[in-house]
Amino acid sequence: MKISNAKRLSGTVAIPGDKSISHRAVMFGAISKGTTEITNFLEGADCLSTISCFEKMGIEIKRRAGRVTVFGKGLHGLRAPLDTLDVGNSGTTTRLICGILSGQKFTTRLNGDESIQKRPMKRIITPLQMMNADIRSDRGNGCAPLTIHGTALKSIRYQSPVASAQVKSCILLAGLYADGITSVSEPAVSRNHTELMLSAFGANIQTTNATVSIEPNPVLSGQKLAVPGDISSAAYFIAAGLLVPNSEILIKNVGINPTRDGIIRIALQMGGDIEKQNERTVSGEPVCDLVVRSSSLHGTVIDGAVIPTLIDEIPAIAVMAAFADGTTVIKDAAELKVKESNRIDTVVSNLSAMGCDITPTEDGMIIRGGKMLHGAEIDSYLDHRIAMSFAVAALAAEGETTIKNGECVNISYPDFYHDLNALAN
Ligand code: S3P
Repeated sequence: MKISNAKRLSGTVAIPGDKSISHRAVMFGAISKGTTEITNFLEGADCLSTISCFEKMGIEIKRRAGRVTVFGKGLHGLRAPLDTLDVGNSGTTTRLICGILSGQKFTTRLNGDESIQKRPMKRIITPLQMMNADIRSDRGNGCAPLTIHGTALKSIRYQSPVASAQVKSCILLAGLYADGITSVSEPAVSRNHTELMLSAFGANIQTTNATVSIEPNPVLSGQKLAVPGDISSAAYFIAAGLLVPNSEILIKNVGINPTRDGIIRIALQMGGDIEKQNERTVSGEPVCDLVVRSSSLHGTVIDGAVIPTLIDEIPAIAVMAAFADGTTVIKDAAELKVKESNRIDTVVSNLSAMGCDITPTEDGMIIRGGKMLHGAEIDSYLDHRIAMSFAVAALAAEGETTIKNGECVNISYPDFYHDLNALAN
């Protein structure tokens, strides 16, 4: 993929469905009784992996142009798959499905691509085993492939060492099959889509500060859901609109759940001109349209409780920081190392290649911004968020940038280059 400097960006972009919410809608629909109708479903490769896993367990799922219908069979309606479930590149599929599979009456094996086989699964294996689950890493390295022999589960009160919605959701889903109330506490609040959506399906879930509890054995009923646009996808347009001179863009349908909206808060803190319009609620999630205009940004400190609310946006924020005056410090973000790539390393090596003064740290990075960047050969490392962040850097930098394996954007935003291009013309 080759991308050159843009003179200005203008126009409107409608953001595709939220990845986290699309996964959950299919999963919760599958284990509910009756039909779940999902509109604006994200047809990215990750969410298609979730669909294929449930189809292999006997769930009928119809898909037509962003509309997905899941014919749910209830908490105990899944059947044993005939072969290994393929989770592809998807951490969300892997971790959430393990919670469901641990409480079934059959055995499953899960595997995915090279990247997923390196991502840490011990963080879910440990609490699931505390619940009496029979789950193991086939190679004994705490990663996929995983084998799960379904069994009766015990409820636990789990203190998670990481703020991770995937860990929290995995335990809450296992809690549906447990013998009492299961609770999870986190060091900081992570995205709460599971809590909001499972409640709408009929589960009894309580949240107090950073602790969530769930009652077992609810009657879950199919729902009609409209998936809000993904703020993680909107992030690239927020960054592009702020960085490319003379720009004004309207970003429509952006989910602004407060457990996800850290990028907006940080962009404002950096001096960004962002206006929220048409605030509304869609299927229990707050949504708005954003107007973003070119801005002179300045550096900031990003740390603490805001980190889980923008963890996937840090590559895009790092690009903003590279063009901002002064220094930006990102800390408390060691989770970046265990995403689709080690995003401390991949952001630092790619921004350095474009001429940025950036230093990696143990839990983040320090970016001394304000210098013009130049086009370079960028490696996506097959990480969709790295490819999209550096497409934005390329628009704001001098000259031409080549992104290796840029097509990996199909994981979360198949039409990304098309939508970005439309604003540049
Ligand atoms: C996700 C949670 C986050 C995020 C990932 C999607 C989810 O991961 O990075 O892209 O859908 O629950 P962690 O839970 O590992 O922080």
